[in-house]
Amino acid sequence: MTDTLNSAQAIALENQYGAHNYHPLPVVLSKGEGVYVWDVEGKKYYDFLSAYSAVNQGHCHPKIIGALTEQAHKLTLTSRAFYNDMLGKQEKYMSELFGYDKLLPMNTGAEAVETAIKLTRKWAYEKKGIPEKKANIIVCENNFHGRTTTIISFSNDPDARKNFGPYTPGFIKIPYDNIDALENAIESNEHIAGFLVEPIQGEAGVYVPTEGYLAKAKALCEKHHILFIADEVQTGIARTGKLLAVQHENVKPDVLIMGKALSGGAYPISAVMANDNIMDVIKPGQHGSTFGGNPLAAAVVMAALDVIQEEKLAENAQELGTLFREEIEKIVPKYNLLKSVRGKGLLNAILINDTEDSDTAWNICLKLRDNGLLAKPTHGNIIRFAPPLVMNKEQLLECVSIIDKTFSEYN
Ligand SMILES: Cc1ncc(COP(=O)(O)O)c(C=O)c1O
Repeated sequence: MTDTLNSAQAIALENQYGAHNYHPLPVVLSKGEGVYVWDVEGKKYYDFLSAYSAVNQGHCHPKIIGALTEQAHKLTLTSRAFYNDMLGKQEKYMSELFGYDKLLPMNTGAEAVETAIKLTRKWAYEKKGIPEKKANIIVCENNFHGRTTTIISFSNDPDARKNFGPYTPGFIKIPYDNIDALENAIESNEHIAGFLVEPIQGEAGVYVPTEGYLAKAKALCEKHHILFIADEVQTGIARTGKLLAVQHENVKPDVLIMGKALSGGAYPISAVMANDNIMDVIKPGQHGSTFGGNPLAAAVVMAALDVIQEEKLAENAQELGTLFREEIEKIVPKYNLLKSVRGKGLLNAILINDTEDSDTAWNICLKLRDNGLLAKPTHGNIIRFAPPLVMNKEQLLECVSIIDKTFSEYN
């Protein structure tokens, strides 16, 4: 099908032929460049979601697209049945950048989380001496780690879970940002293998934990010989003002999970990193993926991480994030509906003064769209704001004035 579609036609096609597993904002995009996207009618918008923080380097970054197209002409996929001449380079690059002995390449965030869970369990049986099938992993309430059957087994979002059981056992849920709860869980449960945590809970509504929480949690894990597993799929790759969000507290996870912006949005790429004493429990035949570690991904990931460093995107996220929160705080008193703003770097959210089940946040997003800015509610009355990190100050201030204007029209 090569005809050009207008928005109504594109939406109608998806409605008729696609599973209804998403509820997209009604806007149909056909082009992206840097911080901007365009709809099929040619209207230009600021992207204030970045595909859930996957497009940190901006849409269609020329260096990333250059690496993708160049490699696409040479070799795209070998499977891991054979070696390719790119994967080793990616592994060395990422080992040096993130400071781990080894990398295990996958494709999506959920696959990387599954990988980390399997790795942690295997380590627990083979290195820690936990009896077979008894390993427990501690997770946090309101977590979001993906959509597989095992991952939704430890979600507490009813939509994510209902009628998808039976669930995978072996997870203990505790409140987020509560060190005592972690200590209690460790002390009152046998056979704890790991603690899986988001450094900031993104999907739950950009919950930034109390300063010191991650460092204390890591220290507790060390004391009890438990793996600290950080899910940096959304928070990683400069989003929060550091390459990794855990670096705000100088924490080095035992198992590091990354995805999304590893490719700058050009390709599904995820990875798990750990040192040899953990990673060496996985032997040939025990875990893998046809596409994980393909040469196209390797070319893309190295270009995408080059861009992060060359363009100092972590520093930019840090600076612009502070400015954004300061500017939004200035307009909060003007509007009853706008309760507060929170976040770190360029991972932020505003809270809307209405109930969680109201459609106010959704309606505000529709108005933001009309005014040229695309964002989406996460959980009812919270709107996440996560623009590409290549944004400049002038653009950010224009976005703040779009938000201001939108609230003034809504009130
Ligand atoms: C923290 C976190 N982990 C895992 C995932 C799952 O990633 P994917 O959608 O690529 O499977 C997400 C996606 O939003 C996420 O935010």
